[in-house]
Order: sequence, then C-alpha cells, then structure tokens
Amino acid sequence: MKKNTYINELEKFAGQSATLRGWVYNKREGKSLIFLILRDGTGTCQCIINQQDVSDAVWQNASELTQESSVAVTGKVIEDERSSSGYEIHVTDVNVVQIARDYPITPKEHGVEFLMENRHLWLRSQRQWAIMRIRNEIIFAIHTFFQERGFIQMDAPIFTGNAVEGTSTLFETNYFDQKAYLTQSGQLYGEAMAMAHGKIYTFGPTFRAEKSKTRRHLTEFWMIEPEMAYYDLEMNMDLAEEMMAFIVDRVLSRRETELASLNRDTTALEKARKSGYPRITYTQAIERLKSDEMRIMLDEMEDSRKQEDPQLRQEMAELEKEFGQAKKGRKLQIEKRLRDIRVRLEEIEEDLRNIPVWRKSALEKQWGDDLGGSDETLLTMQFDTPIMVYGYPAEIKAFYMKRDPDNDKVALGVDMLAPEGYGEIIGGGQREESLDVLLDRIEEHELPIEAFSWYLDLRKFGTVPHSGFGLGLERTVSWICGLKHVRETIPFPRMLGRLYP
Ligand code: 4AD
Ligand code: MG
Repeated sequence: MKKNTYINELEKFAGQSATLRGWVYNKREGKSLIFLILRDGTGTCQCIINQQDVSDAVWQNASELTQESSVAVTGKVIEDERSSSGYEIHVTDVNVVQIARDYPITPKEHGVEFLMENRHLWLRSQRQWAIMRIRNEIIFAIHTFFQERGFIQMDAPIFTGNAVEGTSTLFETNYFDQKAYLTQSGQLYGEAMAMAHGKIYTFGPTFRAEKSKTRRHLTEFWMIEPEMAYYDLEMNMDLAEEMMAFIVDRVLSRRETELASLNRDTTALEKARKSGYPRITYTQAIERLKSDEMRIMLDEMEDSRKQEDPQLRQEMAELEKEFGQAKKGRKLQIEKRLRDIRVRLEEIEEDLRNIPVWRKSALEKQWGDDLGGSDETLLTMQFDTPIMVYGYPAEIKAFYMKRDPDNDKVALGVDMLAPEGYGEIIGGGQREESLDVLLDRIEEHELPIEAFSWYLDLRKFGTVPHSGFGLGLERTVSWICGLKHVRETIPFPRMLGRLYP
C-alpha cells in the first residue's frame, strides 16, 4: 500500500492531492453533492464529492457509502477555517474498502446499556475517541513526570499471596491448587523495590471485587504507585501535588481540542495546573462536614434545584408546543435542547434525592468514621482545586500505615480529593518502618503472618522511613474529562455485572 496520509497532518498537503484512508463517520446528500465526514483515527475531515467533477463510477461509489463503511478518498486539500481539521477535501476519487450494513450506533440517542453492550464499536464515536486520547496524554504525562525525576518504573506481580487493602475485595484464583489473589495494589512490592532503587513507581492493573455499582468503582483499574525511600508524609504530599499539577498542565496544553469536544469547562483545571493545593487534616474535614457553613451550602443547593426544576419544565412545554410548526433546522435544535433538559431534570431529581442523605451523613459524622463518597463530594465543593486530607484515624486505615508519633490514634495517611464533587483520586501515606510495630499490626488485623514474611524482611535489613501513594488512573481521567461515570474512562470497563465485550 502507498504510505498513508493522516488527517492531523493535512497542512503538509495544502493545495495538493492526497489520499485519506478511513471510515465514514457521517454522510449528507444534496442534489449533486455528497458531504462525507471521514474519520481516520487522527481526526475527522469533511470530504466533498461534486457530481460534476467526478466520473459516474466515482459518484456511484460515493452514493453507496454508509455510516462506518471503510473507504479511501483522494482529492485536493483545501484550507477551510470552519472545519475541525482546518482543511476539507475536494474529492476526485473514492475507493470503497467495505460497505458496512446497519451499523448499530446511529446518530440518534442510545441508552447507556446499549452503548456498553456495543463498547467495541462505541469507541469509534467522537466523545469516546476524545476521552481515550486524553487518557493517553495522562499516561504519557505520568511517565514523563516520574522519569524526569529519576524514578525507576517497576512492574509488580498480578498474582499475589497477600491482601494489601483489606480482605473484603479480594478476587481469589486457583494457582496450581494453591490460593492466589489478583493484586489490589502493587505497593508492598513497590516498597521492596524502593529499597533497591530509592525512588520507583509501578504502573499496572489492579483488581478489587467491588460488589456495589457506583460511578467511581471498577473491578479492574490501573494504578500508579510511586514509593520513595527516605520520604516522610510531607515530602509525599509535595510530590503528589506536583505530579497532579504536571498532569493537568499537560492535558490543558496538549489536548485542548479534545477537552473542547467534551464541552469541558476548564475553569477548575486551570486552577489545578499549579501546585499549592489546600491541605486539611481529617479532623478539620470532620469539623467542616458538621459545620453551619456545610448545612447552609446544602440548603442553598436544595433550594436552587427546586427552583430550576419548574423553570426547565416550563421551557420544555413551550418547546414542545413550538415543535409542530418548526422548520427542519429549528426542529433539530429543539430536539437537542429537549434532550439536554431531560438529562438536567434527571440530575436535579437525583440531587434532590441525595441531598437529605448527604446532609444526614455529614452532620452525624463522628471522629473515627470513614469519609464516604458523598462526604468527599461535599468537602470538594468548598474548594476549587484538588485538596489533600491527611492524618486519618488509624483504626480505619491499612496495617502498613505509620502512626503519628504525637498521637497514636492518628495514621500518617493522605488522600487527594478532586474538586467539582469528584472526590478521592489518590490514597497514600508514610509506611510503618519498625519491625516490632508491624508485627503487632499484622496480628491486630488478623493477617496471615507467613504471607508477609518477605515484607517483614524489609524492616529487618536496613529499614528506613519511606512513603508512597496510589493514583487511580480512571478516576483521574474521569475528573479531567468531566465525566459522570468511570465506565467511559477505560476501553473495556470491568464492573459488577459487566464482562462483555
Ligand atoms: O486508596 P487506595 O485503596 O490505596 C492503595 O491501594 C494504596 N496501597 C496505594 C499506595 O499507597 N501505594 O487506592 C488508591 C487509588 C484511589 O485513590 C482511587 O483513585 C483508586 O486507587 N481506586 C479505584 N479506582 C477505580 N475503581 C476502584 N474500585 C478503585 N479503588 C481504588
Ligand atoms: Mg483510599
């Protein structure tokens, strides 16, 4: 085959003839004109076929094209400001590779369940395409950040004999008649590697049998876990926020088009591209949740939703009345607006159902309770950048967390919560480095000591203060893209009740 020309490099061919190979994203037909939106993986480009300029055979080929047919299109590359690629093609030749029959995902509205069943095809649509490109940018940014700072990337095993993050979410497998688990976190192995290399990070899949459906949980997700020797909690927090600011900055400067195509309001991201995020203690977080300000914020939220609802319903009624007499173009506009209104009404209904539950959870919070998803949502609504909450009750944290030397009830753990209601994207902290203390903790947590024998060796042979954290890739993508659910952040999501495709 001749070398491919890609849509994102059309500027090199301005004024010349080029051949694009791709798929028909959309097709409109006029009397003697056919407008194709061609996509080739790098972008989309309008291709115009004028009956007067092409042979009958070429016109025939173009006429037969359907959505998602594969095709090679040759024509002159013309600059065009209105086009998303900056160019359009005035077509001279059309070569059909395959005519696609009855592509299931049409431009009309589809339900999420249907789209999830067709995830293998859904990935081709504009929104999903933009999300995956941002995911890729985030992955690249993370590697760049750590590599530029002398961290060594290390792969932790997927089959393990240890529970890291509690025993309730373990996936058990049969490993040649021995029990093995799919890893929940590479951290313990990361600690071993940090003692060999100083600063390391893992970047791999992790697994948790999350038995409830939420917008933040997958059963298979990707985690990035840096681990550093001779780092305390504060150095750990500095690193976490520098990394996050670096990621956000990269996406803002390199994926502007994709963010725009997702209609992402980037106000909060603009604030997060610089580090210096607020840090509050867990105790302060509890005080905030129980405060008058929080109650007032919730009351105001409830009132504003209650006002918005009838306004939207009235607008909807007016649009529905207008629809009958409207011309075709206006009809499309009305349909779009009605769809948006319906989505918003559902959100309002959900908020109005949630607010009383959130209020109760927040106001009744006691020191020692874990922060739930809704508590995190409320806390982050009071800030416009990510925040870090540190110093959690030791009781609710993992066995490996070091305790605050000044207060044995407090663990030196930290979570980073993303703004705009997103909540936890990072969990980490300083690790217990004393062999004796760790032995006690393993006993307290009723963990099988034999499985941790190797881990305890790290405290016998040159133990040092060390820290690390885990960044959830999908939650980060979800926040940066402004999505409602993590299921769209990974090519093939694995969740409760979802193993296909
Ligand atoms: O807070 P977690 O459980 O921390 C750990 O696993 C530590 N061992 C990490 C470390 O210190 N090296 O998980 C870390 C992050 C969370 O903040 C969240 O972003 C993500 O992993 N995460 C999930 N993402 C999607 N689906 C799930 N079920 C997730 N569980 C955790
Ligand atoms: Mg956590």
